[in-house]
Amino acid sequence: MDESNKNKNVFVSLKNITKSFGKIKALDDVSMEVFENEITAIVGDNGSGKSTLIKILSGTLRPDRGSIHIRNINYRHLTPGLAYKNGMATVYQDLSLDNHRDIAGNIFLGREITKFGFIINYKEMYKESEKLIKALNINIPYLKTPVGYLSGGQRQSVAIARAIFQGQKLIIFDEPTAAMGIKESGAINSLIKSLPKKGFSVLIISHDIYQVFDIADNINIMRHGKIVENVMKEETTPTDLMKKISSSL
Ligand SMILES: Nc1ncnc2c1ncn2[C@@H]1O[C@H](COP(=O)(O)OP(=O)(O)OP(=O)(O)O)[C@@H](O)[C@H]1O
Ligand SMILES: [Mg+2]
Repeated sequence: MDESNKNKNVFVSLKNITKSFGKIKALDDVSMEVFENEITAIVGDNGSGKSTLIKILSGTLRPDRGSIHIRNINYRHLTPGLAYKNGMATVYQDLSLDNHRDIAGNIFLGREITKFGFIINYKEMYKESEKLIKALNINIPYLKTPVGYLSGGQRQSVAIARAIFQGQKLIIFDEPTAAMGIKESGAINSLIKSLPKKGFSVLIISHDIYQVFDIADNINIMRHGKIVENVMKEETTPTDLMKKISSSL
């Protein structure tokens, strides 16, 4: 661990996590921390184990060995329900949005505001959505647009707004801007960068060294299923990161 991490609050830590798929060791004794109110990144080449790590953190995969430590509790593995209960939301690439519903409908999906316990209170939902979109400084012109018509960046923003509305505190991203153009990914990067100041923690996985260098505070370098180094952004450069990711040492 980097020396400068010593006095920070840890949101979640992974301890000695190993996961194999048949003969492939996707994760090999991985230990790492995600800190509160900070952007932690994992960078690594294709197949280095990044998505497997995220699936273990979001409770969709069980590790073969190791544990996950959250606020003094050691879990052998998480479930999606436990991850949620502990304030961790994963924004996946497919985003699991309902394309036929509008923005407010998606932000409130499954947790709709009701009148008398059963009539959906759309007025209140639009009001709350508008507040949230403004607070996050998200560029979405019209709240009643079905989400299927939005751009990739706007859809990603709706998924982030939903996680935040649900009270989640650690937002986890797996390659959030992989399919986006320059302008859109710039907007998502700004939104992600603004989250720590608003009291959220972020874990982001990316192969895009420049994105990681732009937004992350704390960077973990993954190679062949191992975290080979943990550095603070100030201690590295994009060229250095590139070398470390691809080094065969
Ligand atoms: N369900 C699975 N069954 C078999 N092998 C798997 C499975 N999931 C991942 N793997 C293997 O585990 C290794 C790590 O995969 P993982 O998806 O975690 O990599 P990644 O770093 O996310 O790669 P990418 O950058 O391409 O998304 C790879 O060799 C992959 O083929
Ligand atoms: Mg992946």
